[in-house]
Amino acid sequence: HKDLLGLADLSPEEIEHILEQAEAMREVLEREIKKVPALRGRVVVNLFYEPSTRTRFSFELAAKYLSAETVSVAAATASVVKGEGLLDTARTVEALGADVVVLRHPSAGAAAFLARHVKAAVINAGDGMHEHPTQALLDLFTVKRHKGRIKGLTVTIVGDILHSRVARSNIWGFSKLGARVRVCGPATLIPPGLEELGVEVYYQLEEALEGADVVYVLRLQRERFSEQTFLPGPEEYARLYGLNRERLRLAQPDALVMHPGPMNRGLEIAAEVAELDRAVIEEQVTNGVAVRMACLYLLMRRGEA
Ligand code: CP
Repeated sequence: HKDLLGLADLSPEEIEHILEQAEAMREVLEREIKKVPALRGRVVVNLFYEPSTRTRFSFELAAKYLSAETVSVAAATASVVKGEGLLDTARTVEALGADVVVLRHPSAGAAAFLARHVKAAVINAGDGMHEHPTQALLDLFTVKRHKGRIKGLTVTIVGDILHSRVARSNIWGFSKLGARVRVCGPATLIPPGLEELGVEVYYQLEEALEGADVVYVLRLQRERFSEQTFLPGPEEYARLYGLNRERLRLAQPDALVMHPGPMNRGLEIAAEVAELDRAVIEEQVTNGVAVRMACLYLLMRRGEA
């Protein structure tokens, strides 16, 4: 592949290959001197049309550890505010020498559109409600490190599934690697058609948690709600769908608790649950650097012996 647009496009073998490469990158990160010359002279541009802390920062670090040059462009401060469109901005970035464009954009399909029009490799860092492939890859990587496998695990994804590109990428990733995927949330936040992908849909959190090996809590994405979306108020949401200690007891005793961040503590997840040893939320962030190094490396070195 020239680009990394979504996990829907990757085979199980390709996903496994990225995870193996990420393991090698993690070993590099454990060294005292983390920098390797693998991508010296290459240019990675982060083009972000939506806010980000984790993804942008970890792509910057990943590029730096591989010795690539890296530049970050936040759309709010770029010529985008003067009306420059995505394609013109990306062509400008390419004219300045970008080998990789890492794009975050509010519209589904933006990364695929860009990939068709520029020679640079495009990595989707989140496109609207569609996909966030590097997030799912770092989640798979984190689970595999703890559980030793993905196949046969029961993964319960809780909350705002409708607006979540993280959920969509994780559904592809975990399903392709042989996990059993459940989703749970208010009916208005569950998109149609998930059963056709083999996903089990629940509306009662207690039922969805029963025996789960991984509990993946999503942020309520209020910024994406339309006036048509009915949603319980915050207290009611926390009462019905908040992950608290009592509910977590229904899952396996060693069930991992995950969240892509940023968290609304006390809403979708109780503060004390987020602090448990088996809540691996910060480790997800750390693993994001190794996984993004692997993605940059594999895209840049493709075709080489
Ligand atoms: N998980 C995630 O994408 O976080 P950011 O929005 O901070 O990049």
